[in-house]
Amino acid sequence: MASWISLLYLFIFSFIYTETQLVPAIFMFGDSLVDVGNNNHLKLSLAKADFPHNGVDFPGKKPTGRFSNGRNAADFLAEKLGLQTSPPYLSLVSATNKSNAFLGGASFASGGAGILDGTDTLFKQSISLNKQIEYYSTVYGDLVQQLGTVEAQTYFSKSLYGIVIGSNDILGYFGSGSTLRDKYTPQQYIDLMIFTLRGQLKRLYSLGARKLAVVGAGAIGCCPSQRNQNQTGECHEQANYWSLKYNQGFISLLQELKSELKDMNYSFFDTYTLLLNFIQKPAAYGFTEVKAACCGLGNLNAKVACLPISSYCPNRRDHVFWDLYHPTEAAARIFTDNIFDGSEPIVFPINVRQLAVM
Ligand SMILES: *[C@@H]1O[C@H](CO)[C@@H](O)[C@H](O)[C@H]1NC(C)=O
Ligand SMILES: *[C@@H]1O[C@H](CO)[C@@H](O)[C@H](O)[C@H]1NC(C)=O
Ligand SMILES: *[C@@H]1O[C@H](CO)[C@@H](O)[C@H](O)[C@H]1NC(C)=O
Repeated sequence: MASWISLLYLFIFSFIYTETQLVPAIFMFGDSLVDVGNNNHLKLSLAKADFPHNGVDFPGKKPTGRFSNGRNAADFLAEKLGLQTSPPYLSLVSATNKSNAFLGGASFASGGAGILDGTDTLFKQSISLNKQIEYYSTVYGDLVQQLGTVEAQTYFSKSLYGIVIGSNDILGYFGSGSTLRDKYTPQQYIDLMIFTLRGQLKRLYSLGARKLAVVGAGAIGCCPSQRNQNQTGECHEQANYWSLKYNQGFISLLQELKSELKDMNYSFFDTYTLLLNFIQKPAAYGFTEVKAACCGLGNLNAKVACLPISSYCPNRRDHVFWDLYHPTEAAARIFTDNIFDGSEPIVFPINVRQLAVM
């Protein structure tokens, strides 16, 4: 009976989605750049954004757990694909009626999360990428049971898997007081990230994922927290250098996986290059402030995070950074426009629109 109803849902879904939706569902993995409220459910986490001034430009001025003045890239991506933003997994599992809860997709993204376990030492608690995939595997089992093996595989293969991760691993290595630098050279650490990511992507593939929308690390050394570590206020060169190295490793990994797993397809977004474009040609993107955070306190508004006691700028549209780590809604919108419709060298080998309609 239950699976009959699910099939009916799927039928209606696929009927509607040929009209307006480009994919049946989005499964989102990652960190605070795409967290839409999972961390609200983590009691101990310090990586939270469910208080003002976050959300000041969100409908109803509501702080939702997004690390942004408004919507983030997960929202814009869903909108472009004709879907609602995938709800936080932890809000779905706590719902009393789970029937069909996951059919529209789910977000596992969690502020503070990394490729490697333990990137949350600073934030006390987050859902690491390994844990996110473990959660997804239970959703996978649930949907296979509801839809049947064959229908479920079709559903997964048409769905989009967003992966926005790696920044916390890099920040963790270059952060002040990090002990990781005693254990690994930067090259060893980057290699470990890529090695771990290989296993994680292959696991997602084994759990039905065929369309991967993956995002490289930004120019992490240029976020206000890292500029604040440089006396001149310029970008932290080492953090940028190793962000680039990580991206190179990630791109090679994707090429290797593609030749190994023929029916997997991906779109890679080069956040690094686009962020540098913002910094070098701000006016072309409508920005006037590319260094300081909008919300915070102290030098570059990067000494104190965006807390209720912090001040925030009136001109959010002019700023690239909302707080010491995260982009404004305006910057996230331009990122997503490029993820979706962009071309080389920012997005390759295909963009997400092309990936979605495959
Ligand atoms: C749960 O949702 C399904 C489908 O939406 C519905 O048929 C069922 O009656 C609901 N169960 C409860 C206990 O509310
Ligand atoms: C600080 O910025 C200057 C100027 O760009 C640069 O030469 C220097 O390497 C930077 N320091 C660090 C720690 O990145
Ligand atoms: C991915 O692309 C290949 C061609 O490279 C194609 O044969 C395959 O069906 C595609 N997979 C999906 C899920 O669209």
